[in-house]
Amino acid sequence: MPPSDFDAGERLVDLVDHLHQVGALTDPRWRDAFLQVPRHLFVPDPVWAEDGSRDDGWMIPVGRDDPYWWENVYADFALPTQVDDGAPAGEDGRGRYTTSSISQPSLVARMLEALTPVDGARVLEIGTATGYNCALLCARLGAENVVTVEVDPVLAERGRAALHAAGWKPTVVCGDGTQGVPAEAPFDRVLATVAAKRVPHAWVRQTRPGGSIITPWGNDYMATALLRLEVGEDGVATGRPIGDAPFMWLRDQRAHGGRWSDFVDFDAKVRTSRTRVDPHAVVEAGGGAEFAVGTSVPGLCRAWFDAEDDSGEATLWLYDTKGAWASVDYVPEVGEYEVEQAGPRDLWEEVEAAVVWWERAGRPERERFGLTVSRDGQHVWLDRPENGVARPFAVAP
Ligand SMILES: C[S@@+](CC[C@H](N)C(=O)[O-])C[C@H]1O[C@@H](n2cnc3c(N)ncnc32)[C@H](O)[C@@H]1O
Repeated sequence: MPPSDFDAGERLVDLVDHLHQVGALTDPRWRDAFLQVPRHLFVPDPVWAEDGSRDDGWMIPVGRDDPYWWENVYADFALPTQVDDGAPAGEDGRGRYTTSSISQPSLVARMLEALTPVDGARVLEIGTATGYNCALLCARLGAENVVTVEVDPVLAERGRAALHAAGWKPTVVCGDGTQGVPAEAPFDRVLATVAAKRVPHAWVRQTRPGGSIITPWGNDYMATALLRLEVGEDGVATGRPIGDAPFMWLRDQRAHGGRWSDFVDFDAKVRTSRTRVDPHAVVEAGGGAEFAVGTSVPGLCRAWFDAEDDSGEATLWLYDTKGAWASVDYVPEVGEYEVEQAGPRDLWEEVEAAVVWWERAGRPERERFGLTVSRDGQHVWLDRPENGVARPFAVAP
């Protein structure tokens, strides 16, 4: 039961005002849409929250009988709504990994505004989950113009039920969204609410020329960027990062499970060297160097540890899942840092080569890079699609 002072209408107006104040909701048509969709109707019982009593990264279910549920349904946070693909992995029903969530409202608003649909545009949403984002699309464009696809059958059914209960009947498809929904194509817009490492060409094929695709995009190394791709007559999509969009991965493009230390063989024969590249530069979230490294060193993953004392020292661990690893020890005001590497690749040399390329290119910001998606795959460029970078940027597998 809601607490006695819970007023959904008031909370919704407060949320919309907040989205306006933070600059996420500027278009009055999207504002009207948000005001038509009570978020609590889409938040399932239970949601999942960190287990504060153990503080070990595992999650516990929190239902409507808990004040936490009501405090958070209109907060500007994402809420985990499924763990471990619906089968909580831990003892006593605790969950390890979030596998579905209701997204953060301000991120939802920014992505919907970036979609810039004209009235009556046909939209395909990838990742139905709770149905909240889909309801917003229905409120803005009409349910008859909205198709949404969810890979998880339980979630697809739950999302459909929530949409129906709230009064919207878009086409809800249970299937693999990387295939798009060919039977309903073409679309004017494709909106992915799940992140891609490889943008499926099916999304390009199913978008009308002149239409666009909004999708979170990235890899295991770098911060996930929000991409807007425009689809041309030639069936090729091109575009750039327009912001940040932290999202879970498409189900078949997920990161490896496991921690960094699972992939580092501490007994391996180590090659030592020194570098003048400050490791902070290559991990700055959303920075150009992070992007250059993340898109040119295939399969790269990382972990960063600050020293627990006040020394300001830190260690960057780089690794892939095939036995290569490197560590770089940062010490303040030294200017040269110790590197250790092991395994079949010299991971740090690859990272350093990407940084040297990036510095010679004038240290471009992330937003100067772009992506082209064609039948032949995807490739990264700088400034203009024809301006392939000197060292071809392979995209991580
Ligand atoms: C962050 S949630 C989406 C939030 C949702 N739009 C909402 O408003 O509640 C991401 C969803 O994408 C789904 N998903 C993952 N891979 C998918 C795929 N290949 N096709 C369709 N859905 C997928 C997940 O099961 C998850 O429910």
